[in-house]
Amino acid sequence: MTAQTSFSFPTSIECGSGLIQTIGKPLQALGIDRPLVVCDRFLPETEAFEKVRGALQQAGLVEDMTLFHEVHPNPVEADVCGAAEAFRRGTCNGIIGLGGGSALDVAKVCRLLIEDPGFALKDSKKLYEKAWNGLPPFVAIPTTAGTGSEVGRSSVITLESTGAKAVIFHPKLLADHVILDASLTVSLPAHLTAATGVDALTHCIESFTSPVLHPLCDGIALEGIGMVAQHCLNAVQEPDNLESRQGMLLAAMMGGIAFQKDLGSTHSMAHPLSNLCHLHHGLANALCLSAVMRWNASKKPGLYARVAVAAGQSFGDPAQGDQAAIQWVEGLIEACGIATGLAHHGVDEEQLEALADLAIQDPCHQTNPISMTRDDFLTLYRQCL
Ligand SMILES: [Fe+2]
Repeated sequence: MTAQTSFSFPTSIECGSGLIQTIGKPLQALGIDRPLVVCDRFLPETEAFEKVRGALQQAGLVEDMTLFHEVHPNPVEADVCGAAEAFRRGTCNGIIGLGGGSALDVAKVCRLLIEDPGFALKDSKKLYEKAWNGLPPFVAIPTTAGTGSEVGRSSVITLESTGAKAVIFHPKLLADHVILDASLTVSLPAHLTAATGVDALTHCIESFTSPVLHPLCDGIALEGIGMVAQHCLNAVQEPDNLESRQGMLLAAMMGGIAFQKDLGSTHSMAHPLSNLCHLHHGLANALCLSAVMRWNASKKPGLYARVAVAAGQSFGDPAQGDQAAIQWVEGLIEACGIATGLAHHGVDEEQLEALADLAIQDPCHQTNPISMTRDDFLTLYRQCL
């Protein structure tokens, strides 16, 4: 343990069912009385949106609220520009990001264009040429339990010029305040609860096994795995179970914090499956996770023993721990109703070569515990078919 590093856990997080009703307090503390609410186009129809709207009304802020609800499922540059423009038009003084990872990513990053209208997202390397001290305050409110974007300092945005996904990363992008309110997630359908829950689990497992030194995140990742073990299936099977919904919001937040350590090969396989085959990100992870675990464990026996312990599985020596962890993951995915096999979700054998080409270019596997080749990815995709 001789590497030089630094640790930071600065986000203020409120957690509890029904907390949304007191949203006026953090908004007031941050000086927000003309909020821009950023979400996708489906959210205004939901119960969660109504609850947030009601709370803003109670706080006397609905009249001065501006709504931007154009965020795409895989957010594009135009979403970010549109949100910044809505902020200016509404003379807003703060941002509420409401929804899944896409909405939170756009809400987070549009602040760069608000502070500097001349800044282009494609120039993300120039991000560090500025101090970014004038970003408007940002409150993140997730309505899904998966991405952990509410506690992340990066956004993934598809650039207009190249069509490529850019990861815009800067410590100043962190939310000023996060509200984790289970009552906003109860209307999420079972298949999305399952897919987003497995995304949270994958963040915890892949960050825990990433070789980057960060013992604080390791502890958080293991506890996150324990929360998934305790709550994921209940949240899928009993949508109104607030305790399980709250547990999954915590697990997702913990996964989001833990993946400061970066991720692994499952995410490198999942990203092309979303880009090329349009699979939901969480579903794509669910279809690849156990194959990657088996692959990694065959080369590094014992790697997942602590994952199995965190999930409450019992076993003998550490090599059996890998098997216990993998079986638990497979059992959970099946119990959540996710049909395994890429072919079952429309992926063709002919697409596997192209998928492997993209997976090796994806940066996540650089922190996989085992180094990967393009042919390794092809083998893994074949195993997952
Ligand atoms: Fe993910």
